[in-house]
Amino acid sequence: MINKEFGSDFHSCNKEFILNKKQNFFFDNKDFSFFLSGRSALYALIKYGVENYGWTKVYIPSYYCQDVIESLSELNIEIVVFQSNPDDLLLNYDFFEDNKTSVFINVNYFGVKKNNTEIFKKIVVVDDLTHCIQGVKESRSDYVFGSLRKQLPIPLGGFLYSPHKLKLPKGKGSILADQAAENKTLGMFLKNEYLQNRFLNKDLYRSYYSKAEEQLIKLYKDYKLPSLAENILETLNVEKILKKKESNIKLALKHLENYLSYLFSVKESSLGLLLLFDSNTQRDFVRRKLIQSNIYPAILWPNQKTDIDINYQNRFLFLHLDYRYSEEDIIYITTELKKSIQECQKQKL
Ligand SMILES: Cc1ncc(COP(=O)(O)O)c(C=O)c1O
Repeated sequence: MINKEFGSDFHSCNKEFILNKKQNFFFDNKDFSFFLSGRSALYALIKYGVENYGWTKVYIPSYYCQDVIESLSELNIEIVVFQSNPDDLLLNYDFFEDNKTSVFINVNYFGVKKNNTEIFKKIVVVDDLTHCIQGVKESRSDYVFGSLRKQLPIPLGGFLYSPHKLKLPKGKGSILADQAAENKTLGMFLKNEYLQNRFLNKDLYRSYYSKAEEQLIKLYKDYKLPSLAENILETLNVEKILKKKESNIKLALKHLENYLSYLFSVKESSLGLLLLFDSNTQRDFVRRKLIQSNIYPAILWPNQKTDIDINYQNRFLFLHLDYRYSEEDIIYITTELKKSIQECQKQKL
């Protein structure tokens, strides 16, 4: 990479992480059903459960990507949002109706935390493994779903799987969904060209990303994965992509050993570097400094609704350390992070 910048959306994948003919595809299993997005995978499952098993209630943790909750609102099922966030997972089990027509969405937060659902006897448990794709085959829940584009360099996509081999719905085709995939793929290709300094129009590649995102928001229903995205997914060496992220996290943690009080988790399985500050002022200061160094962190997720969740959201920061980055990049990112924290301490923020 010549035009260095860190974080933000994936660009198209380079050869090093493409499968060769002898390697197996991670999802090469007839038990998966692929959808346009994580949202559409969950929408399809809930719709299927309402129509075929009489599901009446879905329990969703309050700390979540709020668009996902919103996307279920048209379905004929009661949505019950319960207080739960990564910093405060304790469940009041008496609150839940443990019967066969209730569904519990168990969100795996950043690959490091989730609620304990073993106490339930009848409730249908659905794991959201968007942040922990590597955990799909170890899950013991009834269903698993997730978004694919948070960990993998594909334009869009979602999956549905059942560890209990339960029947899964299939998505339907849509020209609009195909167009969203086309726009995003174009954006990813042009971003790669930009990073290689072969294409200079940053606004143009960003406009393709935004166009695709605007289209996706309207397409939350049960649409299947467009073949353009499916073809890209099938080329990816998912295991290698996830392993590289793990070794990057390991290296980053080594460089941050004197900054542990700023880390939300030190698990190598995490989605990236998870930071939790004492205050929103500190978080925003560090975030601004990082952006000045071309490091673009994320807030997972904005627009929380309860005071407890807003307080957590305002102190949290996520740094991408995925397969895109070399050891040299990780040293740059952690050095800039340490500098900005030191400055924050000096200013007694
Ligand atoms: C944990 C989690 N689940 C589901 C989704 C929805 O995924 P998609 O954007 O593919 O619909 C997201 C998106 O941010 C997410 O972070």
